[in-house]
Amino acid sequence: MKLTLKIWRQDSANSKGKMQTYPIDGIEGDMSFLEMLDVLNEGLINKGETPVEFDHDCREGICGSCSLQINGEPHGPDRMVTTCQLHMRSFKDGDTIAIEPFRAKAFPVIKDLIVDRSAFDRIQQSGGYVSVNTSGNTLDANAIPINKQDADSAFAAAACIGCGACVAACKNASAMLFTSAKVSQYALLPQGQVEATERVENMVRQMDLEGFGNCTNTGACEIECPKGISLENIARLNREFLSANIKG
Ligand code: SF4
Ligand code: FES
Repeated sequence: MKLTLKIWRQDSANSKGKMQTYPIDGIEGDMSFLEMLDVLNEGLINKGETPVEFDHDCREGICGSCSLQINGEPHGPDRMVTTCQLHMRSFKDGDTIAIEPFRAKAFPVIKDLIVDRSAFDRIQQSGGYVSVNTSGNTLDANAIPINKQDADSAFAAAACIGCGACVAACKNASAMLFTSAKVSQYALLPQGQVEATERVENMVRQMDLEGFGNCTNTGACEIECPKGISLENIARLNREFLSANIKG
């Protein structure tokens, strides 16, 4: 395939960026989107030009670092895949592909396609944990009975990889889907009850401090989420937050 790439180039957090055009040839349908960028970068390096910086790590849909806005969609045109799992067979010979970093005030661009998503880490640090008594009398987690439906819903919420596509998809740059997944994975389990009140209060407070926008129930986050995190988690977050406020 021959393609035309229009890629956001930005030297540093403080410099002004712009879209730059790169023609590319010899792209196979079986290549992943990141492998296509590797081919581009090899060509740029061979010509003595600066390669395009982009984030990646696992390249198998687990780490959440490969966050790109592709033709205006987080993680590109396919559903339930991350950018590293997107294959070039989803594009046609002659296509023009626009590649940008995720856009949100709380995700500032560091360089080219890399954004700083440490705001998510700080939300997680503010409440995404449980305390466990390790005195020697600890009850084995498997000995605590948990309703199958709750266990399944907690497991589904825990599938969130913190990629940030929900924020990039939202017209308000809201982090509600991410935060609700992190709250839900504990709210549904007995192990999560000890810190339940402070968890939801602290995580929502941190989310607001980071400058994410409000949720207006548009649902774009759920559509673009590569892990199928459901809007039901946002409803649960709202219930948890209300109940924490009532408890005071
Ligand atoms: S909720 Fe989905 S889109 Fe948002 S960070 Fe988690 S995995 Fe990514
Ligand atoms: S590189 Fe880890 S999810 Fe894509």
